[in-house]
Amino acid sequence: LDNGLGRTPPMGWNSWNRFNCTIDENLIKQTADALVDYGLRDVGYKYLNIDDCWAGERDEQGYIHASNITFPGGIKALADYAHSKGLLFGLYSDAGYRTCAGRIGSLGFEDVDAITYASWEIDYLKYDNCYNASIPEQGRYEIMRDMLNATGRPIFFSICEWGASQPYLWANEVGNSWRTTDDIKLGWDSVMDILHQQRKITHYAGPGGWNDPDMLQVGNGNLTLDEQKSHFSLWAALKAPLLLGFDIRYPSNDTLEIVNNTEIIAINQDPLGKSVNLAQSTKTMDIWTGELSDGYVALLLNKAGSSITIDLNFTAHLNVLGELSIRDLWEHEDKGVYNDSYSRDVPTHGIVVLKLTGGTKIEEFAEFIDQYNDAALSEFVIK
Ligand code: DGJ
Repeated sequence: LDNGLGRTPPMGWNSWNRFNCTIDENLIKQTADALVDYGLRDVGYKYLNIDDCWAGERDEQGYIHASNITFPGGIKALADYAHSKGLLFGLYSDAGYRTCAGRIGSLGFEDVDAITYASWEIDYLKYDNCYNASIPEQGRYEIMRDMLNATGRPIFFSICEWGASQPYLWANEVGNSWRTTDDIKLGWDSVMDILHQQRKITHYAGPGGWNDPDMLQVGNGNLTLDEQKSHFSLWAALKAPLLLGFDIRYPSNDTLEIVNNTEIIAINQDPLGKSVNLAQSTKTMDIWTGELSDGYVALLLNKAGSSITIDLNFTAHLNVLGELSIRDLWEHEDKGVYNDSYSRDVPTHGIVVLKLTGGTKIEEFAEFIDQYNDAALSEFVIK
């Protein structure tokens, strides 16, 4: 969506994966503090997003209000608090008559809700798809886009219809991101299932509009350390929104080390904004590769139950000829210069993420050959 927002994928925190409906204003304020205190804001996690379950009732004029039990201070006060901490503030609603958790939805009230949200100074709206009266998705999301636009406040618009209507085909004109798939569950199978559903739609992601394979489960338990690194790296390289979903008030050192990896974050926030593509997939491994504004990235993923060796071939997997300098973005180490290929042992469900620079892109090389051929052939032209 051309509203000036989301030129790189959004980064922040959202309440749903860890807390579901058990949220209140103290949790949100403490989370704002933690985003700042643990340095998360400063590496890019700027959005503090409340998911479902903040809403109370509509008043007689139709205006929506926060639950006076869990959010007695109201939403504006929380947005102000977030802004005072140098954060951005996100809210949630639903393009149906109720939210998935049964709270009030925005269908038929898009105008008044957009005005209310803008008056609360929100910066991001996640817009869900429950209780939608079977009205086709696109139109329901377009209305809210138009109403948000009419407020004059820049609000990142996150389309959450779970991939129901192939949103990548229409959502680039409507939202700044669109969920591609069902809700992520807390487990490796879910991470792999969602990952493989991205493989044919990676080219739809770009500045202003991103594929959203759902929020991160890093730090929520039930994934090994290697699985969490894989999940985080793959989402970053797919240019997914990086929305943390754990209780950041009490982070473990391991979790902080993963989500604060600025070299992986830089892949996500690269200004070129191109997703990686699946270059090769077998039962035991995936190789995902892509272009960066200043080189290439390659992810070597081990899907097997034991350690394996994965070979990256520069021509076959990257479309690059010649010598490449390689840096490992988890070991934070330069590995030297290689010709043609590079191999690594990868632990079970683990990943090696490489940044590669140098070499010649094969299309450029082809152009070069063409020019060379033209020059060579011109010598044969009869003068
Ligand atoms: C479904 C969405 O996909 C989730 O991310 C979350 O927002 C829940 N609804 C909330 O009810």
